Amino acid sequence: MIQFKNVSKVYPNGTQALDDVNITIEKGEFVFIVGASGAGKSTFLKLIMKEEQPSSGTIYINGINTTDMKRRKVPYLRRTMGIVFQDFRLIDKMTVFDNVAFAMRVIGARPRAVKKRVHYILGLVGLKDKAQSRPAELSGGEQQRVSLARALVNNPSLIIADEPTGNIDPEMSFEIIELLNEINKQGTTIIVVTHEHDLVQKFKNRVIEIQGGRVISDTGAPSEKAEIPIEISKEQLAEIPEEIAEEIPDVSEEELNREALEAITDGEAAEE
Ligand SMILES: Nc1ncnc2c1ncn2[C@@H]1O[C@H](COP(=O)(O)OP(=O)(O)OP(=O)(O)O)[C@@H](O)[C@H]1O
Ligand SMILES: [Mg+2]
Repeated sequence: MIQFKNVSKVYPNGTQALDDVNITIEKGEFVFIVGASGAGKSTFLKLIMKEEQPSSGTIYINGINTTDMKRRKVPYLRRTMGIVFQDFRLIDKMTVFDNVAFAMRVIGARPRAVKKRVHYILGLVGLKDKAQSRPAELSGGEQQRVSLARALVNNPSLIIADEPTGNIDPEMSFEIIELLNEINKQGTTIIVVTHEHDLVQKFKNRVIEIQGGRVISDTGAPSEKAEIPIEISKEQLAEIPEEIAEEIPDVSEEELNREALEAITDGEAAEE
């Protein structure tokens, strides 16, 4: 589903962040991306979500060459992705509930479905009691979990998470990865950047290591997965509002919450 062919990225200031990367990640995989600070991990994710363009090479997402995709199509590409940004990108003026809810509203979900689903997802990430708080009133770990909730809320086919446990204690980190693991078992492709070796060890997923912009090791798909206790039922995960699955209308730009959308799409959608 994700394929990088000879992809290099040189930023305008001359920094070579990725150097001839060739990677294929199949639908349904759960992959950890590891490597030192500055190795190119976030750049790799930004190329997948098309927040940055490659300097050379080709990127395919679900068989579509996104390298020459029109800018106005990018928001539609991103709707298939749930993204946890390294810097959270929450909207300070909105409550926790609304930060998560707007991701559903922009795709035209009905208020009843939004309310039910957002409360359910906030419960999954342990933030039920914080729904009416604002990001500034939360700890770093709590903000990170709001960002995770927002990524999960539309049941995306791909979840990309940049250090989703960077601000969270080890126990909670384990639970978050466990949650992602459960979601992965339902077929969602998951890519997680992490520095936490303990987590990588415990979960025995595929690990891709980047160093100096190059892939220096890749364990490939695992033959045997770690035993993870199941705490969430299939029924709960399947509780996706049907309105969302069936009706993804072409929302007009006016209908979109511009400020909010800008924050998670880095301005691209709102600029159109
Ligand atoms: N917008 C940018 N302009 C110029 N250089 C950049 C830009 N973004 C990243 N870089 C550089 O590209 C390299 C890779 O950065 P990247 O953010 O991908 O690293 P990373 O592996 O995610 O690091 P970290 O673990 O610290 O988040 C670094 O040398 C970084 O300084
Ligand atoms: Mg990074």
